[in-house]
Amino acid sequence: AQVEHVVPMLSLEKLTPNRRDSKGVAVPMLEQLSQWVERRRKDLELAASAPLTLLVEPKIDGISVSVLYEAGKLRRAVTRGDGRRGDDITRQIKQSRAVPLELRGLSGKLEVRGELYWPRPAFDAYNAQLRAAGHETIANPRNGCAGMVKRKELQGLEDVGIQSFLYSVPWAEGVKLPGTQSQLLAWLAGLGAPVYMERIATAGSASEAIAACGGVGAQRVGLPFDTDGMVIKIDELKYYGILGATGHHPHWGIAYKFPPERKQTQVLGLELGVGKSGKITPVAVLSPVFVAGTTVSRASLHNFVEVARKDIRIGDSVIVEKAGDIIPQIVDVVHDQRPADAQPIERPTLCPACNSEVVVEEIFVHCPNPACPAQRRERMVHFAGRRQMAID
Ligand code: IVH
Repeated sequence: AQVEHVVPMLSLEKLTPNRRDSKGVAVPMLEQLSQWVERRRKDLELAASAPLTLLVEPKIDGISVSVLYEAGKLRRAVTRGDGRRGDDITRQIKQSRAVPLELRGLSGKLEVRGELYWPRPAFDAYNAQLRAAGHETIANPRNGCAGMVKRKELQGLEDVGIQSFLYSVPWAEGVKLPGTQSQLLAWLAGLGAPVYMERIATAGSASEAIAACGGVGAQRVGLPFDTDGMVIKIDELKYYGILGATGHHPHWGIAYKFPPERKQTQVLGLELGVGKSGKITPVAVLSPVFVAGTTVSRASLHNFVEVARKDIRIGDSVIVEKAGDIIPQIVDVVHDQRPADAQPIERPTLCPACNSEVVVEEIFVHCPNPACPAQRRERMVHFAGRRQMAID
């Protein structure tokens, strides 16, 4: 069943690592946050000397959930849905035990919000079982978690290992709430709610908040949940009502996205990939390096114009990062570490798979032979793919 949210479940405005202003000049995240804090100070009509404390919390990459408690008992759990109305997942949540069925010593009514997530070890164990039974595995913990909490079959949900962290109370009746977000977290924890207290920090200024975010970013792989950033909130809860919201974002908080992790490595060689329609793509073979959770040993160089623009040569030391934390990319060449025998990457004149003479179209190089074995193989792979014929 669908349930209307008493208070809409919005999303947060974001600070981003690569924002540019109207003239194309990069705006660092600290400047973006300073501007945001200044706007909030104006909205609140704070004197220049008045403090405005910020609270920095990890942003859990899970599924938002709204949970209603009455006289300490879990009455209803609802997904975010479109923000106005979500799906009733009370039975699944009760069965999974992801959220406590009771909050100790609580009278009155309140809604608690937080994030459901599937811890990596439990997710990996579940996938291992699927694999052993010959079933298709689940791509990532976030989508897996969303699927689990909407599952019709309740039996077994308690063994899957879905968990939660709760972090806000949008409304309450007959309950006296603490005055600040940091006190609210401690209060929720005292009632027996799962609250992540380890990496939260208060900050007196934008620069302190950014420093706190960066500090957690450096240790993010050690966190019990996946995260792509932090949430910076105004600590004083009485300001939330004054600050209000747009149709999409509340004005009391903003999200910080971690800059993608970067590592230095070396280009060992070049491979030429031939796509299903003949496009020939240069791919750098790299000395294996661990970036953002996986070992990277190849990176697409996209096209030969890009290779020339970046002046990438075989033997070069390069900086790699994962775009959107998934696809590895070479973002820079360390020119002053170039070995004397570094080899330039030349545009091929013949297809590496069938030796046909290539055709150059704008920035791309193509193999024109429809019977090229590499093209045929790629067309076959595409045809069998999950989104096409889904052949195992
Ligand atoms: S505060 C307006 N605190 O991140 C909603 N959100 O757009 C913000 N999230 O989907 C609520 N960890 O569900 C808040 N510590 C945290 C969070 C958090 C994850 C999610 C939230 C929303 C998205 C922000």
